[in-house]
Amino acid sequence: MIGIYNPCLTNSLRQEEEGHIYRTLRKSECCTSILNENEESALTEYGDSLDKVSGEVLLCTKCRLCKTRQHAVPGEGLGSAKVLFVGEAPGEQEDLQGRPFVGAAGKLLTELLQSVNIRREDAYITNIVKCRPPNNRPPRKDESAACRPYLDRQVALIHPAVVCPMGNSAIQTFLDSEKSVTALHGIPFEVQSMTYFPMYHPAAALYTFGLRKTMEADFRKLRALLDSMVD
Ligand code: URA
Ligand code: SF4
Repeated sequence: MIGIYNPCLTNSLRQEEEGHIYRTLRKSECCTSILNENEESALTEYGDSLDKVSGEVLLCTKCRLCKTRQHAVPGEGLGSAKVLFVGEAPGEQEDLQGRPFVGAAGKLLTELLQSVNIRREDAYITNIVKCRPPNNRPPRKDESAACRPYLDRQVALIHPAVVCPMGNSAIQTFLDSEKSVTALHGIPFEVQSMTYFPMYHPAAALYTFGLRKTMEADFRKLRALLDSMVD
């Protein structure tokens, strides 16, 4: 069984904190059992956290998108999520609400998750760039590059079993590949010991007839992949 379906992991701040301390320690090759309370809190204080990333994103002015946004959208979900979904950029609704995937594409994403019994709140959902590009144009290379460290920190902190880049922007950002989603969707592969499962962007299924069925099939494959992974 995988962690997202373990009720003990859901909404348990303490376990999330422990997970974070463990990951921080693993990097420096320590062992949690040798820590006392004070050392634990020191690590939490000086270590990185998802809240810290989100706080920095909300104040970020590292690229031009900060000038046109209403709200930055850091991402949301479970800190110990087994699966991390990464879209392209916030759209209009996301920009208004400060939350990822809350418009029409988000509604479809939530339905696709439900179709394979994954609760939205048990995943983590974010985007390549955290601020809405004007008129929903694709993010520019320099904007994606400026925003990349936030995404890398989120991946490191959540340490998911699987990262799902959705759509060409996200796929090409992660996989450094010119291949398109048409060639890559639904096939897991590994880069530097991280498993990626590329998917179509849910927005594409809103305007391409038949794509919803393909996405449903890919979500079933994702579910099987997660189930096959040992905690
Ligand atoms: N499309 C995206 O890529 N991200 C969102 O958050 C919403 C729509
Ligand atoms: Fe900062 Fe990213 Fe927003 Fe640019 S898109 S201002 S880098 S948070």
